[in-house]
Amino acid sequence: MFITFEGIDFSGKTTQAKKLIRRLQNMQVPVMYVREPGGTKISEAIRDILLDRKNLEMHANTELLLYMAARSQIVQEIIKPALQAGNVVICDRYIDSSMAYQGYGRGLDLVLVRQLNDFATTQLKPDMTFLLDISPDLAAQRRQRKGRQQDRMEIETREFHARIRDGYLKLAEAEPQRFVVLNGELASEEIHRLIWQKVEPQLNQR
Ligand code: TYD
Repeated sequence: MFITFEGIDFSGKTTQAKKLIRRLQNMQVPVMYVREPGGTKISEAIRDILLDRKNLEMHANTELLLYMAARSQIVQEIIKPALQAGNVVICDRYIDSSMAYQGYGRGLDLVLVRQLNDFATTQLKPDMTFLLDISPDLAAQRRQRKGRQQDRMEIETREFHARIRDGYLKLAEAEPQRFVVLNGELASEEIHRLIWQKVEPQLNQR
């Protein structure tokens, strides 16, 4: 089973991915956690280029191709072998991040982004995608509270993050059988309960 988590920055998806992993591990389910961009030596090197605040001259087309390059490597090197070995794979961001950020956020052609996703993943799609939906205003508040150094994507404008949020909701509407949209403003334990409600029956089926 292949599960992905999506949402704008500070939506709480990493917290939820980790809660789910802990629960599965407690049940002795073999599980692998990966994050994008990253997760392999090559993909982590690409991540550094993508998130480095000094790389402000990066063209949107370059950005798209780098995310895809990082994705291609993690799919071939880690995700596919882990699935074949019978693991539940939980990925923090995947194909929908490129549709939302580079497609809706940067305004690149959505058909092209989809084609590149297909190429980079050899059409490996998640079985289930949890979209943690929060308003860009709450995201901005959480960002300020965190206070840590922000990366190249996080320093983008409120409008950019608002387009991404709307884009995610459109993606979810178009594929309701894959997406589960959750209100990311609920208490973390409540969100986890809703996620578990969806995952548990699938586990029992397999
Ligand atoms: P993430 O690892 O979620 O950031 P953090 O560790 O700071 O929470 O993601 C890094 C950034 O990359 C994030 O701003 C979203 C962006 N991104 C894209 O724009 N396109 C993509 O395809 C992916 C996977 C991420």
